[in-house]
Amino acid sequence: MKVHVANHPLISHKLTHLRDERTDSPTFRLLVEELVTLLAYEATREVRTTTIKIKTPVTETSGLVLAEPRPVVVPILRAGLGMLEGMTKLLPTAQVGFLGMVRDEETLQASTYANRLPEDLSGRQVFVLDPMLATGGTLIAAFQYLIERGANEITAICLLSSPEGIKTLEDSFKDSGVPITLVTGALDEKLNEKGYIVPGLGDAGDRLYGVV
Ligand code: URA
Repeated sequence: MKVHVANHPLISHKLTHLRDERTDSPTFRLLVEELVTLLAYEATREVRTTTIKIKTPVTETSGLVLAEPRPVVVPILRAGLGMLEGMTKLLPTAQVGFLGMVRDEETLQASTYANRLPEDLSGRQVFVLDPMLATGGTLIAAFQYLIERGANEITAICLLSSPEGIKTLEDSFKDSGVPITLVTGALDEKLNEKGYIVPGLGDAGDRLYGVV
């Protein structure tokens, strides 16, 4: 698994405000959108392209465009939904599928409660959006689901990641034969006993949409 931890002052600046408990939901949502667009720039570095011929007003030439089939973007509900706008700004023609995963707060096990995805993802490049890579349970379940449907390249974009989550994810897919990349805004210190990232930002879904 390739891991890319963003190292950019603009990302650090926005993350600091995102972590701050005084940041209200509207500002939080805006910051998430901006952060995802910045992370998406890195995450799409190896998006598949093809060469086409075009004519400029001056001459004939050729250039790269996104290849077909287009990439699939999969936000993990609920919190990943807050990342969708920032991603589709950069990849407006991507196909968007949804995966609803919920984590049992006692066992920290993730299970799927909703899905709206193409049944056949054979050969597709998939970008998974989930703000927090904590225990890794949600992403492991999501990746398994996508690989079973044929996805053959997966990139996850997470705002924050824990060392424990990265290790678990790496161990789970090292023999999968599917190239996996993680692009994250920061690598935090650890998980606490409740499975929250420390220092983290709290519950991303609650901060985006309020406590329900
Ligand atoms: N999910 C969150 O929203 N926050 C954490 O810190 C861990 C998992």
